[in-house]
Amino acid sequence: MGKRILLTESINAIAKSELEAKGHTVELINYSPDKDELIEKLKNFDVIGIRSKTKITAEVLKEASHLHAIGCFCIGTNQVDLESAQEFGIPVFNAPHSNTRSVAELVIAEIVALARGLGDKNTNAHKGQWDKSAVGSVEVRGKKLGIVGYGHIGSQVSVLAEGMGLDVYFFDEAKKLPLGNATPLSSLKELLSTCDFVTLHVPELPSTKDMITAKELSQMKKGSYLINASRGTVVVINDLAAAIKEEHIAGAAVDVFPTEPASNKDEFQSPLQGLKNVILTPHIGGSTEEAQISIGQEVSDSLNKFLNYGSTAGAVNFPNLEMSYRNNYSRLTNVHLNEPGMLGQINNIISKAGVNIGGQSLSTDEKIGYLIIDIDSKKDVQNLADEIKVLQKSVITRVLY
Ligand code: NAI
Repeated sequence: MGKRILLTESINAIAKSELEAKGHTVELINYSPDKDELIEKLKNFDVIGIRSKTKITAEVLKEASHLHAIGCFCIGTNQVDLESAQEFGIPVFNAPHSNTRSVAELVIAEIVALARGLGDKNTNAHKGQWDKSAVGSVEVRGKKLGIVGYGHIGSQVSVLAEGMGLDVYFFDEAKKLPLGNATPLSSLKELLSTCDFVTLHVPELPSTKDMITAKELSQMKKGSYLINASRGTVVVINDLAAAIKEEHIAGAAVDVFPTEPASNKDEFQSPLQGLKNVILTPHIGGSTEEAQISIGQEVSDSLNKFLNYGSTAGAVNFPNLEMSYRNNYSRLTNVHLNEPGMLGQINNIISKAGVNIGGQSLSTDEKIGYLIIDIDSKKDVQNLADEIKVLQKSVITRVLY
């Protein structure tokens, strides 16, 4: 049965059409409702889609515990109380990789821009200064590019950079298949001392905090360039500013900062402002129209698969589970506390009813278990769900079809 879905914050219209195409009813609003409005509105919806501004707190969730799912049409999910959502059996989906290509393209542009001092030449030309000179400008062909973190973005940068003739090296703490002719290196130090351009693509983790300090910058080749479009915590910004002032580092392109303005109305300040050959961008690595469309598609696809088939693949606060569709079976799903004996109790109820289980899949985390069951009886499915629902450790039980 189609669900009622509220999409807030001007989520790309593609999401509305994709969800409607799968039988759901969608209301799209262009703002972020405050707490009281949200609580009032959610009484009439089964699913909410948000971007970064709408806060789904424990208080909101308590009033909206009937929600089936939450879609974050963005990368981050810290605007949602994920733990509370899990307690109510509500999976939260996001779009972690929809802007991979956008970031990779920005990095490629920045490699060339740094090599040619484009930032400063552009600023000077706007000011009326004719800065025609080849001094310090180099081609990128044949130069060494070092990628730190060879995940989704790092590996895309690798492929694109080889297309321009760069020799690609990478360092990743996990074992990664090198794409094309890229060369894996066994330490960060080796990469820093080998490469002409270093670009960072690691996640924000305690282990990546302050990964690049004065020490690592001193290990980089004199006259090399640093690009950071990962997270602001990865580089000690004052150390980078010092290395640029000392002309050990010839330039940097930085998209992410330890502290970033909360909105476009707030002032941006950084020790990198005014330094030579430094390109500063306001965290726009992933901000393209294509990425917005792709986010709309990725999250609505996850929601459709969850609402229609029970798939939690990609949910950030839930055991991930997917089970293929079987013709002529009914499907029910159950979220329960992860305690011994639950599966046995549920299967007992089904076998006592003389109903055959056509397929069953369970995935658990520390706190909850998520179960998808296909049974071969259409007429019994609701009664069985009602019996499973009242088990002491059941959180949510739903009949999908
Ligand atoms: P990913 O998870 O696909 O790849 C990260 C890679 O870093 C993994 O291969 C992992 O093994 C590696 N890694 C983790 N810790 C490491 C360490 N200490 N040393 C070496 N390698 C390590 O992530 P993805 O999607 O490629 O994103 C990378 C970064 O880009 C993230 O920080 C993300 O937040 C950021 N990002 C920035 C955007 C922007 O607008 N500037 C937009 C999208 C992502």
